[in-house]
Amino acid sequence: MCGIVGYVGSREATEVVVSGLQRLEYRGYDSAGIAILNGGEFQIRRSVGKLSHLQQRLQEAPTHGHQGIGHTRWATHGGVTEVNAHPHRSASGDIVVIQNGIFENYLEQKGRLIEAGVVFESQTDTEVIAHLIERETRASGDFLSGFRRALQQIRGGNAIVAMHRRQPGLLLAARLGNAGGIVIGLGEGENFIASDIPAILDYTQRVIFLEDGEIAIVTAEAVRCERLDGTPVSKQPQTIRWDPVAAAKGGYKHFMQKEIFEQPRSITDTLHDRIDVEGGRVILDDLRLSDEQLRAIDKIYIVACGTAWHAGLVAKFLIEALARVRVEVDYGSEFRYRDPILDERTLMIAITQSGETVDTLVPMELARQAGVPCLGIVNVVGSQAARLSDGGVIYLNAGPEIAVASTKVFTCMVVAAALFALKLGEVRGCLDRATLRTYLQALLALPNQVGTILQQTAIYEQLAERYRHTRDMLFLGRGINYPIALEGALKLKEISYIHAEGYPAGEMKHGPIALIDEEMPVVCIAVRDHVYDKMLSNVEQVKTRGGEVIAIVNQGDSAVRSKADVVIEVPETLPLLSPVLTVVPLQLLSYYCALRRGADVDQPRNLAKSVTVE
Ligand code: AGP
Repeated sequence: MCGIVGYVGSREATEVVVSGLQRLEYRGYDSAGIAILNGGEFQIRRSVGKLSHLQQRLQEAPTHGHQGIGHTRWATHGGVTEVNAHPHRSASGDIVVIQNGIFENYLEQKGRLIEAGVVFESQTDTEVIAHLIERETRASGDFLSGFRRALQQIRGGNAIVAMHRRQPGLLLAARLGNAGGIVIGLGEGENFIASDIPAILDYTQRVIFLEDGEIAIVTAEAVRCERLDGTPVSKQPQTIRWDPVAAAKGGYKHFMQKEIFEQPRSITDTLHDRIDVEGGRVILDDLRLSDEQLRAIDKIYIVACGTAWHAGLVAKFLIEALARVRVEVDYGSEFRYRDPILDERTLMIAITQSGETVDTLVPMELARQAGVPCLGIVNVVGSQAARLSDGGVIYLNAGPEIAVASTKVFTCMVVAAALFALKLGEVRGCLDRATLRTYLQALLALPNQVGTILQQTAIYEQLAERYRHTRDMLFLGRGINYPIALEGALKLKEISYIHAEGYPAGEMKHGPIALIDEEMPVVCIAVRDHVYDKMLSNVEQVKTRGGEVIAIVNQGDSAVRSKADVVIEVPETLPLLSPVLTVVPLQLLSYYCALRRGADVDQPRNLAKSVTVE
């Protein structure tokens, strides 16, 4: 969860930038850096580890100036190095850049720059942006034009801030796509840039937000916004009236709401540094399983609880489809008491956000005693599950999840499982390069696609009003979206206390259809995949019995739309990746239902964020 801060004005920029980065520490990071412009020279200080290490560097080698940018970076595979920390410089050193997000086509751009003689010092996509801006600035003769032209060649959701040492007093910021925000803080004789509001609240409460495809030209005296093509954009400043707790919630009403809306960024961070599209490969440096071990596996047990167990069910579909290894998914609380069959060709995968769920930890211990390697898919770094994962850990990098109901971590678990399934399929020779590239491109597009879903929330408030007194709700899905039906039901019941059940839609006729009447809303997940027509007939079965159908469909769907009472559209992706998108409307539905019913959204009754007891 990278953090961005920029400043120009009359204060010491170092103090403003570092204090702003401190306000963003809650998002998690593992390296930091700043660049201060003074007298036509950049003073750059970078360090790995916590901000205190950077502050130590600044004490040893102070920086002075009234303009600067700073960044906290969360790397994933082996890239936690000072060389990879931001800010990054262009070849001539004239331009420095910081970035949040994924530069999807950075490798092809990097190849062209290398052909043109550029020498790179880091492995990051951010450094490519610095060289790209320099090339376009030289070609156009102007920094702002060069910045625009470079941005027009970047694909993916990004937040970017840059300075030019021969343009003192000027900061350029841009937002591309929906995966990373940019907020501009408006002061008197000074202005601020940040990835999140808490970084600038100590100095100003007047802000403007950049939208997708917008640039901000920031000086101490003025802020001007325009689109990538240079057309001016007028912005109405907003006043932020937050207390410190609200600031931690990033201005959202609840942590759950914040975490739902953080998903473009958290998915970006799960993917970051783990995808090589050109090479058609997944990079999981934290895997402690050799290719030989991966090829020898003939059975995988996935153990998890609650929402993580639903992610495990999705992982089963992914691994069996992409790597052709049989998978059994078990509740941790069941696995530990059923004397499972563990042998030398078994792999265990433990999926756990907290890494402290005892029902998941005990099976990991059983695997260790049986000599079965265990791979962890974990969010909390250094947790017990992470330490027990002798087969390595795929950290979700989702940042802290405070709300008891898990949302952003669930989509990150599914993304992490997809990365592992692709890696396993590649090693076992099940996937050719072209197929791998197709999946990797589709994964990189997910943050933006989730951002698109999050832009429409009015429908959920209307549904929450309509179902305010509903006592029961049914969720139906098929194939890889059957676990999403289960997850949607769990979300609703655990925070709104409406009784809800998730079912494989094919099971309707074996019992649940007796429940259908006008009092029972039914959510049907009917995206375009190989069981779409079956879902269509399930929708008809519900309708002919007087039930009300809320359908989750792909954009442009007409067949389901003609039958359902309410239709919520999600962008189209590869069927095996569709759960990352179909779950988001169900998260929003449960949030707004709980809100309308006055439930304690972040701390539902009887529930704990991490169940460390049996
Ligand atoms: C999810 O909304 C619940 N809070 C709960 O089911 C949770 O997923 C489960 O307790 C597992 O927690 P873990 O991922 O930290 O192991």
